[in-house]
Amino acid sequence: MAAREPVVTVALDPDWASGALVEDVRRGLGSQPRTLPPKWLYDDVGSELFDAITRLPEYYPTECERAILRDHADDIVAACDATTVVELGSGTSDKTRTLLDAFTATGRLRRFVPVDVSDATLRQAAAELSARYPSITVEALVGDFTLHLGHLPRGDRRLVAFLGGTIGNFYLEERAAFLGALADSLEPGDWFLLGTDLVKSSDRLIAAYDDSRGVTAAFVTNCLHVLNRELDADFDVEAFSYVPFWDPRMERMDLRLRADMPQRVRVPGAGIEFDLAHGEEIRVEISTKFRPERIRDELAAAGFSVERTWTDEGGDFAVTLARLAG
Ligand code: AVJ
Repeated sequence: MAAREPVVTVALDPDWASGALVEDVRRGLGSQPRTLPPKWLYDDVGSELFDAITRLPEYYPTECERAILRDHADDIVAACDATTVVELGSGTSDKTRTLLDAFTATGRLRRFVPVDVSDATLRQAAAELSARYPSITVEALVGDFTLHLGHLPRGDRRLVAFLGGTIGNFYLEERAAFLGALADSLEPGDWFLLGTDLVKSSDRLIAAYDDSRGVTAAFVTNCLHVLNRELDADFDVEAFSYVPFWDPRMERMDLRLRADMPQRVRVPGAGIEFDLAHGEEIRVEISTKFRPERIRDELAAAGFSVERTWTDEGGDFAVTLARLAG
């Protein structure tokens, strides 16, 4: 069978500076404590830096999840009757290939729908995937999974994969809103495959988010370059330090940038300017770590029931298969 061209739909405003970025920057940086949503870390440079993070020896989640998918892809495929696989925040869809290999081997899969905010990364991945899987159609969606779930294709029995522990980037209320919106966009009987990083020792967590080569620091700091470029901001990027810490009460990593000297920041593209005091911090990302009961309860609150859970040998990471109740 000849490889078909992937279909790419763009739901995201390609001009970040005129879209949601402006709103997020006004809301997040214009008030205290200052925050920025992590999705703006993933421009083309940021996507490449994240890819480099996944290859760091300290960053265990990717390898743990890869091992789970490798060891249990056949179980996952056997446990569900999906004919369309959707992947939210798909990036390069690298680990997902194991799953797609197992799915295509059954002959049941018709379509793969990778969804990502990074246009270039997604197009590249979609082209590779269509060549690798000539028997299915690849319908990529350049979109934000907090805004564009309404664009997911309907009709088939779907499995939505949300891997990598990305759900941990959301705050509790955001997770509830996301899971609720996902449930609204699915039909009873559709499937959800969720990857979550599990609570573990703070030493290992801190090492994973503060690698010795400084790749994570460069990744988090990249958001200031994004604002300088997209919104004509004048952050003195060199004058910030990366400060990651483990919050034991909330059971999450908290990744911040700290101003090493006082500075006035102008962000003309968002129409704001503000002073940062010496030592003032901007929170760029949280990465929540889970316990199995919490995964089950949060899924249940949105109408999903857990069917199966797989963990890696060390118990560091979990992949949960849940189904939307009828
Ligand atoms: C892509 C959100 C899963 O939280 O571990 C890695 C992002 N940030 N190192 C994570 C990230 C810093 C990553 N997720």
